[in-house]
Amino acid sequence: MPMPQQILILDFGSQYTQLIARRIRELNVYCEIHPYNHAPALTEDIRGVVLSGSPCSVRDADSPSPDLSAYLGQVPVLGVCYGAQLLAHQQGGEVLPATIREYGRARLSRVHHESPLLHGVPTESQVWMSHGDTIKTLPQGFDIVASTPEVAVAAFKIQGQETYGIQFHPEVTHSTDGKTLLQNFVVNICGLDQSWTPEHFVDSMVETLQRTIGEQDQVILGLSGGVDSSVAALLLHKAIGKRLHGIFVNNGLLRKDEYEQVLHSYQGLGLNVQGVDASQEFYDALAGLTDPEQKRKAIGRTFIEVFDREAQKVEGARWLAQGTIYPDVIESVSVHGSSVTIKSHHNVGGLPEKMNLQIVEPLRALFKDEVREVGHTLELPAHILHRHPFPGPGLGIRILGDITPEKVDLLQRADAIFINGLKEHGLYEKVWQAGVMLLPVQSVGVMGDERTYERVVALRAVTSVDGMTADWAHLPYEFLAEVSNKIINQVRGINRVVYDISSKPPATIEWE
Ligand code: XMP
Repeated sequence: MPMPQQILILDFGSQYTQLIARRIRELNVYCEIHPYNHAPALTEDIRGVVLSGSPCSVRDADSPSPDLSAYLGQVPVLGVCYGAQLLAHQQGGEVLPATIREYGRARLSRVHHESPLLHGVPTESQVWMSHGDTIKTLPQGFDIVASTPEVAVAAFKIQGQETYGIQFHPEVTHSTDGKTLLQNFVVNICGLDQSWTPEHFVDSMVETLQRTIGEQDQVILGLSGGVDSSVAALLLHKAIGKRLHGIFVNNGLLRKDEYEQVLHSYQGLGLNVQGVDASQEFYDALAGLTDPEQKRKAIGRTFIEVFDREAQKVEGARWLAQGTIYPDVIESVSVHGSSVTIKSHHNVGGLPEKMNLQIVEPLRALFKDEVREVGHTLELPAHILHRHPFPGPGLGIRILGDITPEKVDLLQRADAIFINGLKEHGLYEKVWQAGVMLLPVQSVGVMGDERTYERVVALRAVTSVDGMTADWAHLPYEFLAEVSNKIINQVRGINRVVYDISSKPPATIEWE
């Protein structure tokens, strides 16, 4: 696939690297993160390079120290924190442990306003520092362009080339003029135009898909009702129309009425989608299983069987489309090595090999909120666009212990009360994800004159940015009281509701 003009970000393992990419993309400039030890060769499309921070010290013998000569002097380079120290260190500068703590907010005290990097950055600008080392002396041919009272070398430039280093982090919002600085770098210094918009992405991706996928080729896509697969479907639909064959499987573990509603929405969008109700097959495969990993495996395996069977019916199928997004791609090639996190597309890991199809992943360059923007441009209905994440194994991992259709029905009804309540109270979009867990315990209650011995459910709602860490949502007590009353009164078989107040880590979002 042809690449847009871009900034290359070399990752040295900093927790902030993704944030640099986010900030650059917010400027409507395309960029890619590559691990420093898999740095790509310089091509026409790469208009500038950012060297990220790192938890390492350049003084350590085994710290990352790639040969940067292919880039330096050829395209503009911006070293951030470790990246800046590396530039200085590699050319004979002195990098030492900082004698005073250089962590947190600081203010610039001297700024070379004529430096194109610092254009529009005021002298007193607040910056965010986070480093244990500091650049004590610069190599020859390096000029200081900004300082703070404590850090003499807060920013430098190498004479005769567009190479800069900054000791602070422009990508975090505490650096109040960080965005200006990044804009100066990518637009003024690297000369990139700010044309990488969702509309531009849609047009160029549609063109690319049309060029890549043969004129008679049919494409198969598993739809889940989630944002990623839905946006991928709309893009492919725009590119190849009815040659996209969406398959939406009801695994019997979806939310209440979700199968019918989502299928209806897809059909309303003109998509060529086949619904397959395979609930019973999934229940059969799950019968008697209690171990969460075994349940996940059974659900994954059954999905592949059902999907494969449906896909065989499509004549001329050459491609399998997937809703893979950029964080999944970065994760699988990161400096830290492949992560063990479970993500939706991993649920059907065996699928491509089994089906012998070529893979097409139209969203693999996008972050989640960029996927949403593209979905918005493609007029994806709001109820799909803003849907909470929902795990591939669905209610199968929210029913603790073994799964039966009766338990699914019980949980679907309790879950619908909670989710609809969140929507009615304007709370749905304030939380990142919410759901109900059906616990494998019964508790004593009293209803009227009768003692009851029924099930307990736990409500779970979290706030989060990416699901990697999460806090329990501080929902209003009155709201929780209302939901609890409704569930206990309306769902026969549940007599107790509790609210989960655990954060991740150490807890997880799901209970299994
Ligand atoms: P945890 O429970 O690990 O969940 O904090 C983080 C995010 O991942 C989702 N999740 C899954 N998604 N298959 C999926 O597709 C799974 O097996 C799975 N397990 C957890 C979870 O809903 C949350 O969004």
